[in-house]
Order: sequence, then structure tokens, then C-alpha cells
Amino acid sequence: MKVRDNMKSHLLLAIIGTFGVMIGAQTQEGFISLDCGLPLDESPYNNSFNGLTFTSDSNFIQTGKNGKVDKDVFDRFGKQYGTMRYFPDGKRNCYSLDVKRGTNYDIVVSFLYGNYDGRNLEPSFDLYLGTNKWARIDLGSRPNGTRHEIIHKTKSNSLDICLVKTGTTLPMISAIEIRPLGNDIYLTKSGSLALFFRDYFSTSVEEIRYADDIYDRVWYPFFDSPYKQITTNLDINNSDTYKVPKTALMSAATPKNASEPLLITWTPKPSNAEVYLYMHFAEIEALEATQKREFDVILKGNFNHSGFSPPKLELYTLYTAEAVQCDSEGCNLQLVKTPKSTLPPLINAIEVYTVIEFPQVETSQSDVAAIKNIKATYQLSKISWQGDPCLPLDFSWENLRCNYTDASTPPRITSLDLSNSGLTGSITQTLQNLTQLQELDLSNNSLTGSIPTFLANMKSLSLINLIGNNLTGSIPQALLDRRKEGLVLKLEGNPDLCTLSSCKPKEKTKFLLPVIASAASLLVVVVVVALIFVFRKKKVPLDLNTPTSMTITDGRQASQSESSILSKKIRFTYTEVQEMTNNFEKALGEGGFGVVYHGCVNGNQQVAVKLLSQSSSQGYKHFKAEVELLMRVHHINLVSLVGYCDEGKDLALIYEYMPNGDLKQHLSGKPGGFNLSWENRLKIAVDAALGLEYLHTGCKPPIVHRDIKSTNILLDQNFQAKLADFGLSRSFPTGNETHVSTVVAGTPGYLDPEYYQTNWLTEKSDIYSFGIVLLELITNCPIIQPSREKPHLVDWISFMITNGDITNIVDPHLHQNYDIGSVWKAIEIAMSCVSPSSAGRPNMSRVANDLKECLIAEESRIGERQDMESKSSMNYSRDSYTEMSPKAR
Ligand SMILES: *[C@@H]1O[C@H](CO)[C@@H](O)[C@H](O)[C@H]1NC(C)=O
Ligand SMILES: *[C@@H]1O[C@H](CO)[C@@H](O)[C@H](O)[C@H]1NC(C)=O
Ligand SMILES: *[C@@H]1O[C@H](CO)[C@@H](O)[C@H](O)[C@H]1NC(C)=O
Ligand SMILES: *[C@@H]1O[C@H](CO)[C@@H](O)[C@H](O)[C@H]1NC(C)=O
Ligand SMILES: *[C@@H]1O[C@H](CO)[C@@H](O)[C@H](O)[C@H]1NC(C)=O
Ligand SMILES: *[C@@H]1O[C@H](CO)[C@@H](O)[C@H](O)[C@H]1NC(C)=O
Ligand SMILES: *[C@@H]1O[C@H](CO)[C@@H](O)[C@H](O)[C@H]1NC(C)=O
Ligand SMILES: *[C@@H]1O[C@H](CO)[C@@H](O)[C@H](O)[C@H]1NC(C)=O
Ligand SMILES: *[C@@H]1O[C@H](CO)[C@@H](O)[C@H](O)[C@H]1NC(C)=O
Repeated sequence: MKVRDNMKSHLLLAIIGTFGVMIGAQTQEGFISLDCGLPLDESPYNNSFNGLTFTSDSNFIQTGKNGKVDKDVFDRFGKQYGTMRYFPDGKRNCYSLDVKRGTNYDIVVSFLYGNYDGRNLEPSFDLYLGTNKWARIDLGSRPNGTRHEIIHKTKSNSLDICLVKTGTTLPMISAIEIRPLGNDIYLTKSGSLALFFRDYFSTSVEEIRYADDIYDRVWYPFFDSPYKQITTNLDINNSDTYKVPKTALMSAATPKNASEPLLITWTPKPSNAEVYLYMHFAEIEALEATQKREFDVILKGNFNHSGFSPPKLELYTLYTAEAVQCDSEGCNLQLVKTPKSTLPPLINAIEVYTVIEFPQVETSQSDVAAIKNIKATYQLSKISWQGDPCLPLDFSWENLRCNYTDASTPPRITSLDLSNSGLTGSITQTLQNLTQLQELDLSNNSLTGSIPTFLANMKSLSLINLIGNNLTGSIPQALLDRRKEGLVLKLEGNPDLCTLSSCKPKEKTKFLLPVIASAASLLVVVVVVALIFVFRKKKVPLDLNTPTSMTITDGRQASQSESSILSKKIRFTYTEVQEMTNNFEKALGEGGFGVVYHGCVNGNQQVAVKLLSQSSSQGYKHFKAEVELLMRVHHINLVSLVGYCDEGKDLALIYEYMPNGDLKQHLSGKPGGFNLSWENRLKIAVDAALGLEYLHTGCKPPIVHRDIKSTNILLDQNFQAKLADFGLSRSFPTGNETHVSTVVAGTPGYLDPEYYQTNWLTEKSDIYSFGIVLLELITNCPIIQPSREKPHLVDWISFMITNGDITNIVDPHLHQNYDIGSVWKAIEIAMSCVSPSSAGRPNMSRVANDLKECLIAEESRIGERQDMESKSSMNYSRDSYTEMSPKAR
């Protein structure tokens, strides 16, 4: 609607003129203003519109590269958004910023792509605040960039802002602005406040921000036709806790027709979002003795403040003390004149926020401080060592493991593996701050100095591996005592370390120990060889925990399990599988190769456990294929593997739990009816397409899934789709060959006819199956239905299209609630995917991009419909609000 267009042109990022370059008397204390990607030799600078000092981001992040927007984009947006940092390496890259614990901060991050890489391919990725997802950033169709703002109370003295790669495009960021707020404002019952809009009522076109606003909030002007503007030049007392800038309070809106209420309506996104509302008032008209302004402030169904009179030339803020939820028609704020009042209602400024819950805890602060110190001491540059060490699980640091007691307890670091890490210098004291550490591996480095005594005082330690260093001196007696209590201490390969016999001639054990030790090592070797022999005979083992030999212990326990616990726990015993599923209590479903059970690991992580039926002859092969593949590939749209069990005949795969089941169930209306809207279906299609695109183009060598079907597309708690079941997957050959010849496998109906005929497998077979899934999403018809004129869905659709009988193709459960163009485009994509000849099929990147366009078309339809449906005098969408606009020339 018109209102929104007006809004856009008002959304100037940079303030031009009037309010600019003021004072300098105002303090910027606690402000963090980072111009990401700014070269150090241009840092710092004062920005041209309000004098705020921006610095380069390079002291706050170790990874990423500097980029620069296109020249013409630069000219339009100016210096602050001219450079960016982008992240070609690693899955998660994090800024680590020093903040004050327990402080309410206004945090703003901005993204402007500006074709910095010359590829004209806008990226999309996820934004995290600490361990929690804050927002999805999708710069597609955002030539003017986007900004996200949140009011958030910090839980520690450091704040991580992380960018997470989710597809093939690279995350990037243009600016970070952090402003401490008063701690008595913007309080919530729970969660943080994402800005939805913040406006002052004026016909002006100027944005207001620092220095008028001491917190550097940005106030956009807003006005609409049923309003009448009143203004004042008098000074307004804004020392109320919210400190709305005086310049924003100097104007106000009242209804044109003085007997009508003043209406402000908007549609939150999502429509059931929890909302906090802040309304700022000041009486700016000089009232005569006989005049009175009094009104009720009513947010339909939620809030009723009756008989309110704004104080004279003084700020007064009314707000919702608890989160409110508007009804399905949106939020409807009315200021209604009371019978006593002689003047119409008035309002000067308004802010609306939606609640984002950040439920995930962070790793114990003392562990974080310690591990960061260790990282700095040894100058470790491990790409995954950014952000929180243990959470979220998907991005936990490599080479360490954590104990996750339950969802509300901060995880603790229990194992640290810094072998082969090029460590030099002595063993750092800071290790002792990792008080829950059980296993410490510093083997194969160049550590010098003596073995510190503090290791003996770390009560949790059960294994210390110092093999292959240059340590000197003798072994502390206290450590030798711990060894007698069961501590495993590995010390070989330190040529200058005094061995027991040479340094401690007094003890009786001196002659005994080496004997026991070598006897123990011999035993280990024998056991290992025997085990390998047993495994080899049965089947090729999954060699993920290669045992090491040569362990000095007191002779009681040198076994395979000790050396293997150093690798990330992923292999489970059958007993553990029984425990995690509570003895196979709850079955979730049954697949081709066995029953899937619900389970729980680490106390709180829900998992799905697929137990392979022993009768399945192909079982072990598929099992092995799947474990090997899932250990190698990781993508947000692929179901991830938590672990596996490979114990004799008992084989199990343990996956992340997908609470919303599979796509097929939803299409057939099973859980809770036919509730997949067209938008939902497109989102699922895009997710699945991205997962498949990753297999085809993101993996080297590429992988063909071979069993794409609607039952293998699973949905997580947010209805994000992930591909599952990789038992049939094959890597395809690199080099000049374009296909591999295999025995045909897959699911009837979804099977590529060309592959079926030729036995030649290429990624195009997946594209065919994906096309079938798309047709299912569109039509919700069975793929093969013998009673139909054309039993196979593909033939039937072609038949219907040729006959021009198109309305009957689309799933009636959608009730024609869709953008028809979007549906047609989807049909077109699907039909190109199912071309009989693989040469006629598009590649997955193309499919994914085309589907995204369908989604955008559908989303914009939904946006417009909401505009029209709400009888609003003011209408916002988050999208239009967060749009960044270039500054005027
Ligand atoms: C930038 O602003 C600060 C304070 O606002 C001032 O001290 C400094 O001199 C300014 N620097 C430049 C280069 O203008
Ligand atoms: C980007 O900004 C320009 C200049 O203000 C405007 O003309 C254009 O419509 C904007 N693009 C979008 C997609 O909002
Ligand atoms: C502004 O208002 C505050 C409290 O409402 C009051 O304490 C203060 O004295 C006022 N300041 C002026 C200059 O009137
Ligand atoms: C003002 O509103 C009142 C009550 O809704 C209505 O009766 C009246 O006609 C309106 N006046 C004008 C000029 O529109
Ligand atoms: C608001 O409260 C006042 C006084 O309590 C009452 O008269 C009025 O009807 C209420 N309005 C609504 C819409 O609930
Ligand atoms: C380690 O712990 C000590 C004592 O609790 C503390 O003073 C020190 O700052 C900690 N060091 C690091 C790097 O966290
Ligand atoms: C994890 O921590 C809890 C609480 O401190 C403890 O009870 C449990 O034994 C620990 N688990 C492991 C595997 O260390
Ligand atoms: C130690 O490092 C060397 C050279 O980098 C490597 O060949 C060897 O396999 C490593 N040993 C262990 C046990 O990791
Ligand atoms: C150990 O130190 C010696 C002498 O300082 C040096 O020659 C040797 O390379 C070092 N070994 C390792 C593994 O760093």
C-alpha cells in the first residue's frame, strides 16, 4: 500500500544535514562502532553525519577477508557501508566483543552486499547472538541491504556475534553498532527485543539519531492522511527514563477529525509474535484553563490505560509491562478521547518490538576464559575455535568435548586434544582452570620445560598424553601417586625427560614398573591385533577409533577404550543404545532397513535411533555407507548423525531428532490436518533443494543421494526441511567420467527412467526424483495410481497441461490460497526436472534459485494481502522496515 512506499523513501540510513555533526560534548562511552572490513590504516574515522567514531573490526575477529562494494554502490551508501568482511572459510565465524555483563544493549548489525565479489549473487546465511540464532539474513532482492536491531541483556563480559554459512554463498557483514542503554528501560519478562519499528510522528523527512538521541536509536518520521500535525518550539523535558530525543517529541499527531479516535495498526511478523509496545507522549500545545486533553489508550484485547493526560512539555512513556499477542487481524492501537476531554488525543512517538527467546545457555564462563587464554597462549588458529566452545552442538569446537548435563546447566569442557598442533613453550598454567577436564592430549608437539605439578591436582583428570614432546626434568611425585590411583599418563618420546629409574633411584618400584609397563603394552598389542582379526573376519570395520599402543600405566588398565575416548564420542555400545531409547520404548516409525526409536543422549538431546533389522542382507552395506557419508558431510539441510552403534549384529544409527516427521505425513494430513500452506511447501522445497545442491556441488567428489522422496525429507521443530537416509548414496566419479554404472536402486515412482534403462547414475537422477517430490508438493496426488487415466503422476500432469485443465492439478487443500504465478513457475520447474532425458534437466543450483523466486513471489503476495486486509492507517512490515536505503546525493 501507499503507506509502505512512503516509508521506504523515508528510510534514509545516513542523516543528511540538520541534525548532523553536532556537539561532541555528548559522550560515546561504551559505544562500539565497527566498520567491518575497514583497512587498519583508515581506522578510526568520524562519520560525516553525526561524528560517531568508527573503527576497523580487525581486532575483534581473526578470520574473514576484507571486501569493498561496487563503486556506484559505494557512492550511494557512503563509507560506513562501503567495506565488509566476508568469510570464505569455516562454518561459523564470530566476533568477540568486550561488553559489561548484565547490561541492556541496543545491538545493530548491517549487511550490504553491493556485488563486492563481482558475482552478482546475493548471499544468505544465519546470524547468531552467542549460542542462539538471532535471524536469517537473506540478501536476495535486497540491493539496499538490511539491518537488524535487538535490545539484549548480556549474560557475560563478552558478546559473540556469529555468522553461520548455511548454503553455498559466503556470509558477510558491513557494520556492527552496540550502544549501552539504561538498565531500567525496555525490561522484558523473558527474551530479548527485536526492533519492529520506531517512529516519531512528523511530516519531516529526517531521521533522528545520535547525538539527539543519546542512545543512538534511529527514529524514522511517520505520518498519514487521517492525522493532523501539531508542533512546538518550546523545550521539552525528556529526562524520563526512556530519554526520547527532544527533536522527536517536538511534533505530534492528532486525528484530523477531532471527535474520531487516533488509530495505529500494524501486522506483526509472525502474526502471533509476542509484542512489546512503547508509546511516548508530551503535551506540546499551550492549553487554556478551560481546555483539557484526556484519552484512553487501548490496544485491542490487551491493554487499556484510561483517562490519560500527557504532562505538559514533559516526556511520559506508556508501555506494556508484559508481552502481548495481537489477534489474527493484527495489532490495533486506539487513542480514544474521553467525554471529559475538550481536545483530541495525541501521540509523539512509538516503538514496537517483538520478543526473541534465546533459550540456549553458554559454556561455563571460567572454562571459556581458560580455553580462550590457552588459544591465545599457543597462538592456535583452528578455524572452528570461534564463539562458544560447546554450543550449539553443530558448531562446537573441534578437538574438545564437553559435558552437557541438561539444557539449563552451562556445559563444561571435559576433554582437550591439542596433539599435532605445533605447540611450543611450556605447558600452560591456565590448563588447571579447566576444572572438569578428564582427558588432556598434548602429544606430538614441541613443548619444553618440565611437567608441572598442578596436573596432579586436577581431580577430574584420568588421562594425560604428553608423548612426542621435548619435555625435561623429572616427573612430579604427586603425579606418580595419581597414576597409582588409575591416572593414565603417557610420556614416551620425550628424549630428555628423566625416566623413573634414572631420576628416582630410591623407590622399590623402580625395577618393577618398566617390566609391568612392557608387559602391559604387549598385552595391548595382542588384544588389538586379536580385535582387528576378529573384525576383519566378520566385515570391514568402521575404523574410526584407531587404537594407539605403547601406554605406560601402572599395569592395571591399558586398553583400547582408553585411547579411543579421545576421539569425539560418536560410537555407542548396544547397552548405551538400549539406555538412550529406554529399552526401545517408543517407536517413531519403520523404514526399509529397520525400526526407528525415540531416544535421548547427554540427558537432554533428543535423538532418533534407527535399529537395523538383522534380517536385512543389504543392511550392513547401507549402514556403512551412511555412517561414512554423514561423518564427512555437514549441512543445515541434511539430517546430522549423532552417532552409531556397530557391535556384532547390533547396528544402529543415531540421528538428530526431527520432531515434525516427514513431508509425506504432512501432505497426507496426518499430524493435525492439512496445514502446509503454499508458502510452507515452497520453503520445504527450497530447503531440500539446498541440501541436495550441497551434495551435488558442495561435496568433493559429488554425492548422488539416490533415494530422494517425500518420506526422506524430514522436518525439524521449525519446519526446516532436511534430507535423510543416505544408505543408497554414492559418490560419483571425478575427472572426465560423467556417470557411474551401478545396479539400479531407489524407490519406484521416483526412479529416473533413464537411469533405470541405462544403469548410468548421475546427479541428474536425483533431479528427477526431486521433480517428483515437487509434483507431490503441488498436487498432493499419489505418484502411481492405476485407476487414473495416466497412472504415473508425470504423465498425468503432462496430459492435464496439454488439455489445458490446469486448475485441477493443484492440491485442493490449498483452497486456492496461493500466488498463481508462483505455482505455475513451480510446475514448470518440476516438469523440467522430470524431463525424460537427463540432458534436459536443470542442475540443482538452478532449481534452488528458481524455487527461491517462487517463494519470493508467494511471500510478496502474502505481504500485499495483509496490507489490504488490515484497515490500517499505518502499516509496517519488518522487511520494509529493515531495508536500508541509500543516502541522498
Ligand atoms: C572524532 O571525534 C572525537 C570525539 O567525538 C574527537 O575527539 C576527534 O578529534 C575526532 N577525530 C577527527 C579525526 O575528527
Ligand atoms: C533501493 O534504493 C533505491 C534508491 O532509494 C530505490 O530506488 C530502490 O527502489 C531501492 N530498492 C529496493 C529493492 O528497495
Ligand atoms: C524534568 O522532569 C524530571 C522528572 O519528571 C524532574 O525531576 C526534573 O526536575 C525536570 N527538569 C526540568 C528542567 O524541569
Ligand atoms: C467526524 O467524525 C464524526 C464521528 O465519527 C462524524 O459524525 C463527523 O461527520 C466527522 N466529521 C467530518 C468533517 O468528517
Ligand atoms: C477501558 O477502561 C475504561 C475504564 O476502566 C472503561 O470504561 C472502558 O470501557 C475500557 N475500554 C475497553 C475497550 O476495554
Ligand atoms: C584461572 O583461575 C584463577 C583462579 O580462579 C583466576 O584468577 C585466573 O584469572 C584464571 N585464568 C584465566 C585465564 O581464566
Ligand atoms: C557431567 O556433569 C554432571 C554434573 O556435574 C556429572 O554428574 C556427570 O557425571 C558428568 N558426566 C560426564 C560424562 O562426565
Ligand atoms: C606425529 O607427527 C608426525 C609428523 O607430523 C606424524 O607423521 C605422526 O603421525 C604423528 N603421530 C601421532 C601419534 O599423531
Ligand atoms: C627438541 O629439542 C632439540 C634441541 O633443542 C631439537 O634439536 C629437537 O628438534 C627438538 N625436538 C622436537 C620434537 O621439537
